[in-house]
Amino acid sequence: FWRAPVLHFLGDPEQGEQNWEYFDDGGLLVESGFIKACGPAETVLKQLPEDCEVRELPGKLIVPGFIDTHVHYPQLEVMAGCGVQLLDWLEQYTFPAEAKFSDAEYAKEIAELFLDQCLSHGTTTALVFGTVAPQSVDAFFEAAKKRNMRMIAGKVMMDRNAPDYLLDTPESSYEDSEQLIDRWHNKGRLSYAVTPRFAPTSSSRQLYMAGRLLKEYKDLYFHTHLSENPREIEWVQALFPDSQHYLDVYDQHGLLGPRSVFAHSIHLCDQSWDRMAETDSSIACCPGSNLFLGSGLFNFSKAKKKNIRVGLGTDVGGGTSLCLLSTMKDAYQVSQLSENTISPLQAFYLATLGGARTLHLDDRIGNFQVGNEADFLVLNPEATPLLKFRTEKTKTLEELLGVLMVMGDDRVIEKAIVMGQET
Ligand code: GUN
Ligand code: FE
Repeated sequence: FWRAPVLHFLGDPEQGEQNWEYFDDGGLLVESGFIKACGPAETVLKQLPEDCEVRELPGKLIVPGFIDTHVHYPQLEVMAGCGVQLLDWLEQYTFPAEAKFSDAEYAKEIAELFLDQCLSHGTTTALVFGTVAPQSVDAFFEAAKKRNMRMIAGKVMMDRNAPDYLLDTPESSYEDSEQLIDRWHNKGRLSYAVTPRFAPTSSSRQLYMAGRLLKEYKDLYFHTHLSENPREIEWVQALFPDSQHYLDVYDQHGLLGPRSVFAHSIHLCDQSWDRMAETDSSIACCPGSNLFLGSGLFNFSKAKKKNIRVGLGTDVGGGTSLCLLSTMKDAYQVSQLSENTISPLQAFYLATLGGARTLHLDDRIGNFQVGNEADFLVLNPEATPLLKFRTEKTKTLEELLGVLMVMGDDRVIEKAIVMGQET
């Protein structure tokens, strides 16, 4: 039993007053890794089983674990590589780094580092790119299994327009993905995502193979990049002259749908927005990366108007931090440049239940609904002298969340709890 201030969401706070709950003196009862009760401490205390361990944490804040809907674990070592935009950044920094992951030992070392860092930055679930090497994904899932974390990942499919040493073929990518799916998909808390890097690095035949996988297996995710950078978009039009727009390339290969997650989706035409909505496809919004790589500004208003599922992604190594607090701040700042500023409450929603909805996991994680998996964070609003000074001056919850989002970083994440276990 955890007694502390508790915040979680029942829905999108912008769409209704009743869509979030905050208990100043709250209680979270966890049994065998699942949420047994959540509410005012007084009420939850009445349901306490005998010999229940009690932890009292006044002055802290318990929130659901953060969900990173787009991140590349093999790119830790290219974070903060300055001076270039997307296509040159891939050539100069990213491809050489990803080549190292054909070494299973190296992949294991980095997967362990990545997942430990996810936890210390407050991320308990993520949708993750591996590299083209299947061993990169085996290493990742092994490490996630060891930590009992809910994770989705996939092998990059990439058969052209990258260095030879990183290319697969339509057939080999199909077979390698198939084997990984058999080994890892829906095993415990792990799921598989079919992951062509982006349209420029896949032939039409490879995208067709990706679609075949989606048809042949149940509940697979589809994960790729979309409309991130103007030069990239022009290139896609040149490579796929029969497509009406970038999203149409994926559409023509049967790759849109409720379990499809498109990272970035910055420069979309009206037709794309409509197709995104019609197919209930999701967007991973990566504002930190979009700023760092100079890619552009995501249109939050449009996504909201079209009622499209949006989660937040750090997109490390294009992104500059693994911490969703930092991504929330970037999202807030980008939204400030538009007519539709998102609130701190909305930002916390996007990083928790919003992410879970994007991944269709809201019946398992993302809030403290009874029966959900107990992945949550203990935040310390007084983690540094300046934060303590500043948060003491806040009068409302909204104000406190604003300070945590804008001034906070991994030092605020005091504990990350996975399936009820401290990590
Ligand atoms: N587009 C294709 N590959 C990548 C990648 O690794 N990172 C980002 N940000 N965009 C991409
Ligand atoms: Fe990315």
